[in-house]
Amino acid sequence: MTSLCPAIKPFVTLTSGHFAQFSESITRETGIRMPREKMPMLQSRLQRRLRQLNLDNLDDYRRRLFESGDSGSEWIEFINLVTTNKTDFFREPKHFDYLVDVALPSRDPGPGAPWHATFWCAGCSSGEEPYTLAMVLEEYARRRPGFEFSILGTDISTRVLELARAAIYEAEAVAPIPPEFRHRYLLRGKDPERARFRVVPELRHKVRFGRLNFMDEQYGIKDRFDGIFFRNVMIYFEKPTQQMVLSRICRQLKSGGYLFAGHSESLTGFNLPVKQVSASVFRQTR
Ligand SMILES: C[S@@+](CC[C@H](N)C(=O)[O-])C[C@H]1O[C@@H](n2cnc3c(N)ncnc32)[C@H](O)[C@@H]1O
Repeated sequence: MTSLCPAIKPFVTLTSGHFAQFSESITRETGIRMPREKMPMLQSRLQRRLRQLNLDNLDDYRRRLFESGDSGSEWIEFINLVTTNKTDFFREPKHFDYLVDVALPSRDPGPGAPWHATFWCAGCSSGEEPYTLAMVLEEYARRRPGFEFSILGTDISTRVLELARAAIYEAEAVAPIPPEFRHRYLLRGKDPERARFRVVPELRHKVRFGRLNFMDEQYGIKDRFDGIFFRNVMIYFEKPTQQMVLSRICRQLKSGGYLFAGHSESLTGFNLPVKQVSASVFRQTR
């Protein structure tokens, strides 16, 4: 008798040898540490990917991945699969208070003088961080005539960059946004069954997104920035990688520009041209 159910693919078994090969290549290409505790996570994500590709054995997948080379399209998908993209609107909100109360006033060229400030969200995930920054800066601009800004958001994952560019979020995601900001900077979708919100075009136009891998020697960014948000990314890297990436990121700061790290991230022991000015906030000194 022919079954009406689609064949259930066998469970992918990741051997220690396979895991070592995957984890070594992930760390080499992205800097992300893959200790053995991550084996079940990798196994279940690979399982999902194999199902999407309709493959039922890991060797076929390994051939597809490793033989296509680092720039092959499966590498991009594989990286999408192994990155952790947790983020929120108004995450670690003290940074935004510091920005408005201290950092921006310290860089102001003078009352009413034209001023275009530039920002980089390095490891921006699905856009919540750069759009939070855009809302905060837009509020600042309402009180400070002549102030303009632009924001660059970059990430290694093409999946999250697509979400960031779309700028559409579920009700649960926008909950941390203060109500008056929600009212001013979000548009509600028309579907009465599903509350979804889109960032208003005036803010979207001030944020551009691009793919960037921190492991690349050259970032190809011509701009220097008044502020760089590099939060909750380096926790995934080993110390030497953190030093290398932080050095490259600091090169993109303007003189006296600010670097914001995640609250659980420390810059202690690194040789960098910045000094700490507040909890997980650093300022360019050279
Ligand atoms: C946990 S999220 C943090 C998002 C945001 N900065 C925040 O604090 O809410 C970390 C992001 O770093 C990105 N990432 C990890 N390794 C990277 C690399 N080598 N180059 C660029 N982005 C990377 C991931 O794709 C992910 O979206």
